[in-house]
Amino acid sequence: MPARLFLSSGDLVADRRFDFARDLQLRGDLVAAADLLLQATDLAPGFASAWFTLGEIRERLGERDAAISAFRKARDADPQDRHGASLRLMLLGAEKLSAMPPAYVRALFDQYAPKFETALVEDLGYRGPALLFKAVLAARHAVHKPAFFKRAVDLGCGTGLAATAFAREVDHFIGIDLSPRMIEKARLTGLYAELEVADMLEGLRARREASADLILAADAMVYVADLAPVLKEVRRVLVPGGLMAFTVETHDGEGAIIGEGLRYAHGTPCVRAALEAADLGLARLEELSARNEDNTPVPGLVVVAAKS
Ligand SMILES: C[S@@+](CC[C@H](N)C(=O)[O-])C[C@H]1O[C@@H](n2cnc3c(N)ncnc32)[C@H](O)[C@@H]1O
Repeated sequence: MPARLFLSSGDLVADRRFDFARDLQLRGDLVAAADLLLQATDLAPGFASAWFTLGEIRERLGERDAAISAFRKARDADPQDRHGASLRLMLLGAEKLSAMPPAYVRALFDQYAPKFETALVEDLGYRGPALLFKAVLAARHAVHKPAFFKRAVDLGCGTGLAATAFAREVDHFIGIDLSPRMIEKARLTGLYAELEVADMLEGLRARREASADLILAADAMVYVADLAPVLKEVRRVLVPGGLMAFTVETHDGEGAIIGEGLRYAHGTPCVRAALEAADLGLARLEELSARNEDNTPVPGLVVVAAKS
């Protein structure tokens, strides 16, 4: 996992108390760590990292209400919510499901970028791009069309693993990602004709109508709570007959939920409903896992949709 995000309080003593508290937390002395964190927040009431860590400790101690209060203070102290306190509040059931804070995603993947591929591919057995590749080939084969695409957009392109999988089938690759560091890595592959640091929805909105033959989102829709707005923009940007291929994590229920890994899992019915709302036809939907967690495949779906 990436290094832990730390936002200095601007007060040296408070920052030092935080460091001691982290040592205690890592050694398992949660009560003493909480006490030091409270001292740090007394000194620096807007110390987001201390409030966030306190929230985690309260949660570990089974003190749900105190955890909720600390996570709310973390978010108040950093309205961009780089720690993702709002996700912890959703997970605690204190707030209803909402969009992931973009600043959290950016901070997470900016920190993750240097070791992303090793962590994902080697440690988690990541296979999202290969699954998408097979599914897209099969979808094209089924309609007797060649699997060759002039222009493809890679949403949440990360370091470029999806473009690597599709490199020989695509003329012109466009990558969009929230994280500048991931985009830097993608640039090094030399596979993208265009790269853009942007939220995928905004990046799609800036694209011309009917300007892409293929749109990919490998392990990126797991950071999107409501799929429909993105899929509607995808439809506008695709040429008639164009394909959208994406992976999601899933669960047995209906809608979207947030999982322990702080990614969304979408039930099959809500994926189908979002495609329908976007007026995209379902070409393939397979129950396949794109990655492991604790050496166990995480339930997932591989979806290919077509614009008629
Ligand atoms: C798990 S990585 C997958 C990267 C790549 N697609 C792959 O298969 O290796 C998820 C990527 O999606 C990006 N991301 C998440 N939410 C996003 C959003 N709303 N708009 C653009 N990029 C997003 C993250 O910054 C990250 O680089």
